[in-house]
Amino acid sequence: MYMCNQLPLPVNSNPGMVFPPRRFTTILDVSRFTARLIDGALNHKAILDKKELPLEKATSREPGQPLCMTQYYRLLGSCRLPGKQKDSQHTAANESGSEHIVVICRSQLYCVPVQAADRGRLSEDEICAQLLHILDDAPCLASPPPIGLLTAIKRSSWAEAKDALCRDDQNRRNFELIAKSLLVVCLDEALPTSFNCRLQRGGKGHTAGGRDETNLVLQMIHGGGTAYNSCNRWFDKTIQLIVSGDGACGLCYEHSSAEGVAVIQLVEKLYKDAASGNQISEVPQASSHLPPPERMEWILELDDHKRIESAAQAVDNLIKDLDFQVFRYVGYGKTFMKSCNVSPDVYIQLALQLAYYKLYGKLTATYESASTRRFKLGRVDCIRSGSPEALAWAAAMAQPKEDEKKVTFHLVSNEVKLKLWEEAVRAQTKEMIDNILGQGIDIHLLGLREASKDTSPTAAHPLPEIFTDPSYRLANKFLLSTSQVATSDDSFMGYGPVEPEGYGASYNPKPDQVIFCLSAFWSSESTSSSRFAQSLEESLNAMQTLLARKA
Ligand code: COA
Repeated sequence: MYMCNQLPLPVNSNPGMVFPPRRFTTILDVSRFTARLIDGALNHKAILDKKELPLEKATSREPGQPLCMTQYYRLLGSCRLPGKQKDSQHTAANESGSEHIVVICRSQLYCVPVQAADRGRLSEDEICAQLLHILDDAPCLASPPPIGLLTAIKRSSWAEAKDALCRDDQNRRNFELIAKSLLVVCLDEALPTSFNCRLQRGGKGHTAGGRDETNLVLQMIHGGGTAYNSCNRWFDKTIQLIVSGDGACGLCYEHSSAEGVAVIQLVEKLYKDAASGNQISEVPQASSHLPPPERMEWILELDDHKRIESAAQAVDNLIKDLDFQVFRYVGYGKTFMKSCNVSPDVYIQLALQLAYYKLYGKLTATYESASTRRFKLGRVDCIRSGSPEALAWAAAMAQPKEDEKKVTFHLVSNEVKLKLWEEAVRAQTKEMIDNILGQGIDIHLLGLREASKDTSPTAAHPLPEIFTDPSYRLANKFLLSTSQVATSDDSFMGYGPVEPEGYGASYNPKPDQVIFCLSAFWSSESTSSSRFAQSLEESLNAMQTLLARKA
């Protein structure tokens, strides 16, 4: 699913996550909070090294089944590596007992050792001092060539650029340091409030430095372009923690190693611990003995500079094309949905179907990720929500109202709509449960397709017809790509569409509201994230009116 996809990682693959913003008054607050995040990551790594992460168990639908924990063990220390045909993964392996992280500030990359075999782990104070040094050092330097931008282009082009850079030993060593680092920390500048400025539909939610939530999540997804923080990233790195001076903080994560659930669990823990500590504003003392962190120097030829220049243009175009908005629906949340005896996930999926139908008069192939961690090495399968039952219900809901002698009536009665609703709920619930219990179809078909490719199709033994049939292609063209990304605090995660004419829609159901992140591309004439948000709002309102009648 991931390794052969040539598309650039930002927007197309890497999700961005916004944590509740912090209040920083000095540069010391920034480094102290960031040091705490890193210290938390080191505590977590110690648990992973001892293989002591508690085993999670399913809480519903055959509760108590153990869940595969493998993803959790490859979050720290992993990195995606570009390949000309196919990417690969560097996975964590800590044989030496030493650890380092990479900090990026004003496009400068620094290697910060955080644990050495001979002297043990750096204290929070020591990490804080290292970060202060970087925050002091980077602004005094001339802007370096933004190598990190190359991680944001088409994968095969990045692989070629990397091969060329690897002819120099120093560059090769830098790449190794980045790949092997525990994680990357990006110390960002705030985006201007005018960046992608538009009225946010629904509740207002978080702000940082006067910026709204759409502005904040775009900083996490792509950095805002080369004029802002996109040069301050290494998009191949599994975990990039992002902190900016105005208190905005969050994450950009590379998706191939793990699903959002595992990543959220880790970063929520890091955030909670870092935010719960007292604000300590003293300059750290225990640090003067440490050498300053190593700033990475790059040796570039003329061709390398040219590649970076064209990467800058490509990245800015990609970013300009993203039509994104955070939509906090505040009419009601999962408490009301549960009171209707419906799974909130099923309810929201059907709302998305109705929103799509109201705009296009039809449904489309829809992807919803379903965790398959009940199986060893399980990742996700695909809940296909565009069912015939959903279509019948959406069509009934979208019937226009008739106005006869000033009495408005619906062409389809509420009784019929409720009956169709119940059938749509039944079908969607079955589809969801089938998937999480391993009875989905997509992963099995994907496995068969890849296995048949491994046997090198020839004229005598071509790829089985099912995989070349136009209906297979159509069924996998997900114009609606969705997933539930639930968080325990007020963080939220968003991502881009997976098709040029498609929508991305993540949702985070809360008791009294739902946080949606809706995305599309401006270059598509048929999509619009604001029209989708409006249609979704109307759909959720209409569903409440219908179901409140039933109650
Ligand atoms: N009536 C009333 N309440 C119901 C109900 C019903 N018929 N069905 C479920 N509920 C309740 C549940 O008990 C649960 O209660 P809780 O909030 O007290 O725990 C709540 O509603 C949520 O259940 P539901 O909406 O069914 O969703 P879920 O939490 O089981 O999640 C999936 C469903 C498919 C999202 C989940 O199984 C999954 O696979 N998650 C992973 C998604 C993923 O990978 N995302 C990241 C992609 S990067």
